[in-house]
Amino acid sequence: MTNRFYITTPIYYVNAEPHLGHAYSTVVADVLTRFHRLAGYETYFLTGTDEHGDKVVAAAEKAGQTPKEYADRISGMFRDLWPRLNITNDHFIRTTDDYHIKAVKHVLNRVNEKGDIYFSEYEGLYCFGCERFYTERELVDGRCPDHLTEPKVIKESNYFFRMSNYQQWLIDHINKHPDFIRPTRYRNEVLSFLKEPLEDLCISRPKTRLTWGVTLPFDQNFVTYVWFDALLNYVSALGYPEGEKYEKFWHYAQHIIAKDILKPHGIYWPCMLKSAGIEPYQQLNVHGYWNIAEGKMSKSLGNVVRPLDLVDVYGLDAFRYFLMREMSFGLDSEFSEKALVDRINADLANDLGNLVSRSITMVLKYFNGGQPEAVSLSEKDKILKDQTLRLVDNYEIYMKGLEFHKALVGVWEVINHVNKYIDSMAPWVLAKSDPERLKTVISNIVDCLKIVSCLVWPFMPQSAESIQDQLGLAGRGEDFTIDQLRDWGAIRPIKPMIKAPSLFPRIDTKKPVAKIEKEKEKKAEKIEIPLVSFEDFQKLDLRVGVIKSAEAIAGAKKLLKLTVNMGEERTVVAGIAGHYLPQELIGRQVVVVANLAPAKLMGVESHGMILAAGDVSGLHIIAPDSPAAPGSKVK
Ligand code: ME8
Repeated sequence: MTNRFYITTPIYYVNAEPHLGHAYSTVVADVLTRFHRLAGYETYFLTGTDEHGDKVVAAAEKAGQTPKEYADRISGMFRDLWPRLNITNDHFIRTTDDYHIKAVKHVLNRVNEKGDIYFSEYEGLYCFGCERFYTERELVDGRCPDHLTEPKVIKESNYFFRMSNYQQWLIDHINKHPDFIRPTRYRNEVLSFLKEPLEDLCISRPKTRLTWGVTLPFDQNFVTYVWFDALLNYVSALGYPEGEKYEKFWHYAQHIIAKDILKPHGIYWPCMLKSAGIEPYQQLNVHGYWNIAEGKMSKSLGNVVRPLDLVDVYGLDAFRYFLMREMSFGLDSEFSEKALVDRINADLANDLGNLVSRSITMVLKYFNGGQPEAVSLSEKDKILKDQTLRLVDNYEIYMKGLEFHKALVGVWEVINHVNKYIDSMAPWVLAKSDPERLKTVISNIVDCLKIVSCLVWPFMPQSAESIQDQLGLAGRGEDFTIDQLRDWGAIRPIKPMIKAPSLFPRIDTKKPVAKIEKEKEKKAEKIEIPLVSFEDFQKLDLRVGVIKSAEAIAGAKKLLKLTVNMGEERTVVAGIAGHYLPQELIGRQVVVVANLAPAKLMGVESHGMILAAGDVSGLHIIAPDSPAAPGSKVK
């Protein structure tokens, strides 16, 4: 039977723009989806927006728009954000979609026909922020624990769902299925709610108070309470009640949420499903909160972190990696730009980026871009191979257990092991002394790199695919499967390897990082471009060159001495030492200003200058997009 995987994020309220917290849940769902694709599952990934209710009406009023206009605009912001974060959702649901409204009415009728809905007068303490009634017991010092506001006493007649009918069933279900809600702390929290008698759930709002909602199919004067509408998106998106996708995927449902909405998902939702005669979801996966400097992120505090601000400055994969590596799923984490920069420089630029770059450079240099065959494995080779293969097993366990940070720690242990293996095997010495041994060493390095590229793919798809392209593999991303990785050396390159620009440029930490964005803006404002005549431009002689050797210059922090072949060999001194390692430059094509007057820099005479682009993340060498003959003129 095909393995299937159905994952959902919360559908986000359209009363605020997307922020870091929304991005986290959605990236988690994407990482899990991609992982399951690698593991051979057929997947379906759902996200969307929750558009009815008081809060949206209030936000729309403030913006001077109708609720629908407002919902269209903010929902569009979520929908447009996801491709920019490389999120591969299969569907984007809106609770204002017709098919969803139809499904909500269908379920309400079913639950009503079962006798689980009744009409009654209710007086209670209502929090407008949460859109729900609170019991005295739930309040903290008489205030809503989330909004810290005093709830208002409201008396009205409404429809109620007999949730209490399902209390014992739910307790038994959770006890029988220990993984139903995870991590365990949240399962325990739900079980502890269930120790007290469950009150029935008020599921309507009179139209005199709220019209922006789904009208009850059995009473035109009422709309559905937001949770009885929103939660049903998880089945309506699959075409419930009779959709083919519903048949195919509902049985495998996994929800991702944060702890703020544990109660509706851990209690209301399973009871609603049971009453409607729908099988319960498989698992509820609950993560903690991203906080900013010990506090909550909130629009009113003005400390909302916008995902695209970070992506624009630091790059998408660095952002995705950081989210997944920094937070232990289930616990809270504190976000800081400094922690993000530290991770980029240490884990990505130094460890992974450097490994990729030096490995490919060596394959190009010693084997013309082809992977050599390993001859025979030494003890150290076997240790490396065993650790890497063990990683594949552990990685699968950690990913299925939502321990993403541990999965990544495991991958980085292998990355660091390979970097040390390179240092201790010193292929540059073997190249002269033992060409046979060199083959085995380089082949092992490449085999490790293939596995690393596949395992980081769910987290950093673009970078992983770039590594796979550089390695000359026949496929990328989900063309591979985890099982294939267990067959050491089975994935072979089908094309010569190629060198790409550095994957993760180091971030200059001397600048106060929080100011990077502002500095960028300042620079952009200041740019004035002096005009140059065509005759003046023609005086420049720009040529393509290939770097033959690169070395540090004693006493110079920024400078590297390069030998560049431009038809003839030249010495060029370049101020790129903080951005590139000498060994990763070998074999690279560059553009050289060939007719620059010679100049002596730190005692070395430079005959030209290489071109590079500079931005906040560092320097990026300019090169032709495919190899050009050394000495070619740049026109
Ligand atoms: O609750 N840290 O929508 P919502 C981590 N519409 N995750 C966070 C976060 C933070 N600081 N802030 C928000 C709703 N999230 C309902 C859901 S589902 C049927 C209806 C994420 O826009 C996290 O996933 O308030 C949280 O559960 C969700 O956004 C709440 O989104």
